[in-house]
Amino acid sequence: MSTPEPLLRCRSIEAGYGASQVLFGIELNIQPGEVVSLLGRNGMGKSTTIKTIVGALAPTGGEVYFEGQSLRGMRPDAIARLGLAIVPEGRHVFPNLTVREHLLAFADNRNGLRDTWDLARIYAVFPRLKERENNLGNQLSGGEQQMLAIGRALSTNPRLLILDEATEGLAPVIREEIWRCLATLKAAGQTILVVDKYVHRLVGLANRHVILERGRVVWQGDSDALNADRSLWSRYLTV
Ligand SMILES: Nc1ncnc2c1ncn2[C@@H]1O[C@H](COP(=O)(O)OP(=O)(O)OP(=O)(O)O)[C@@H](O)[C@H]1O
Ligand SMILES: [Mg+2]
Repeated sequence: MSTPEPLLRCRSIEAGYGASQVLFGIELNIQPGEVVSLLGRNGMGKSTTIKTIVGALAPTGGEVYFEGQSLRGMRPDAIARLGLAIVPEGRHVFPNLTVREHLLAFADNRNGLRDTWDLARIYAVFPRLKERENNLGNQLSGGEQQMLAIGRALSTNPRLLILDEATEGLAPVIREEIWRCLATLKAAGQTILVVDKYVHRLVGLANRHVILERGRVVWQGDSDALNADRSLWSRYLTV
């Protein structure tokens, strides 16, 4: 039996900043419908891997493929149009656009596509955004901004949704709301690559986990395997 073509394939990615190399041959595949977590301590290369995937950083070696197509030389906006959406670290909400304007400005109404993320469906996942529909970005709490950043990413109907630090800096009750939302997205079949420091929560959410250490993949496996081997946690995950 042959394995299906991955939605995303990173083959031997090398990347860095100027003279300092950060990624040393990253291999990462994501199948359609999978939720994959990218784990590792601070500075191990998680965000750099994501920046390379979305075209914000050009790899110095290796290749990223999306639905079998090489992304080499493509600009971030062209890559986004292929169906890749990122919720970046820091959210990047526009201070003077309303919630509703954010959700309409980037919307991709792929005609003929069923189950697209229109306003009603985004508001169903985040009732809070509906309540805040006419508020400006700079009037939102951190949690509301993160919900908006996720809603905005969904409005493009991404084939792959990437979240870097999904719940960073949020109050516990808001974090739980984000985890619930991500579980809802997973149940709806959304393919997700997620970074977060709450590994316990990721174990409950993701199908598969990939651990980075100094720019290399040092382990990957499913949640049962990660749960069963606490030496992985002490070696690669806890501070
Ligand atoms: N813009 C940059 N210029 C130079 N070096 C950078 C830059 N961004 C990151 N680095 C370095 O690259 C390495 C990997 O950083 P990266 O941000 O990918 O780590 P991370 O795993 O996302 O960490 P964190 O958990 O802190 O977000 C670190 O040594 C970091 O200092
Ligand atoms: Mg990071």
